Amino acid sequence: MKVAVLGAAGGIGQALSLLLKTQLPAGSELSLYDVAPVVPGVAVDLSHIPTQVKVEGFGKDDLEKALTGADIVLIPAGVPRKPGMDRSDLFNINAGIVKTLVEGCADFCPEACISIITNPVNTTVAIAAETLKAKGKYNPAKLFGVTTLDVIRAETFVAEAKGLNCEDIVVPVIGGHSGTTILPLLSQVEGVEFTQEEIEKLTHRIQNAGTEVVEAKAGGGSATLSMGLAAARFCLSLVDALNGEEDVFEFTYVEGDGSDARFFAQPVLLGKDGVKEIFDYGELSDYEAKCKAEMLDGLRGDITLGEEFVNGQ
Ligand code: NAI
Repeated sequence: MKVAVLGAAGGIGQALSLLLKTQLPAGSELSLYDVAPVVPGVAVDLSHIPTQVKVEGFGKDDLEKALTGADIVLIPAGVPRKPGMDRSDLFNINAGIVKTLVEGCADFCPEACISIITNPVNTTVAIAAETLKAKGKYNPAKLFGVTTLDVIRAETFVAEAKGLNCEDIVVPVIGGHSGTTILPLLSQVEGVEFTQEEIEKLTHRIQNAGTEVVEAKAGGGSATLSMGLAAARFCLSLVDALNGEEDVFEFTYVEGDGSDARFFAQPVLLGKDGVKEIFDYGELSDYEAKCKAEMLDGLRGDITLGEEFVNGQ
């Protein structure tokens, strides 16, 4: 299994690469690509960790080498938020970065599963899809927006609020990855009862957790360590599924039947060829149904922005 991380020298990239160096199955290859000149050093640094995962670093002119033979590509390349910024403020810089890198995937590893971390995810996934389509290489079963951070945050906050072990908590989170488009389904958390006040407070905290980090880092960036873990968890699930393991589920932002929006985070069964089946997210409470109805136009607008960026309308 070859995993390529594009943007590997950044905050997320380094945390993610460290976790993958220690957790990928023996015999895997980890390919680190970044435009920052430090990337070969990150690779050398990681290569001193005694695991059977081969690490190589590639600088800005070596995208082809970084991607050739990749089974999974993880993309956290781009700029993160500063206080006062919304994820959509990142669009102008990150849209072009994602487009260029995904063109590289179409050219050099067209069969790979591509996982987009770069924000605004609601839009960058649409950019990736349209870029692949323009190259005749789009396979919706192999393109993912990584929303795992919303899931792990929801698990942590629910466990904290209820004094439970976070390892026992499963919180479905659907929709998109920005503000109110992030919709935790607290009504579906098994064995836990919430008051309406708790639901509203927890929903608000999960939706704004990224901003909590951005403000606490006071200009030093956004979530990198928890995001590194979230992306590693998603990648390791993909590795298991591609290796033939059954019953591998993740909530992830994919192109489904479009009943809510073209791209929507929902429960996905992963298999040898990426998405094996997309499951219904089940019944929503009245509050969740209202939240969903209120955010859908915004999510659809984010997606259209990405489609238009590539198709030049
Ligand atoms: P960072 O600034 O620490 O790292 C970004 C890296 O990307 C840098 O090393 C930079 O040199 C590299 N880069 C820039 N242009 C590139 C290109 N064309 N090719 C290859 N590498 C390139 O940023 P950080 O904190 O790692 O965040 C990265 C992205 O992830 C941001 O867009 C951020 O908003 C997003 N993010 C996504 C989350 C999610 O849940 N999906 C959560 C947190 C952040």
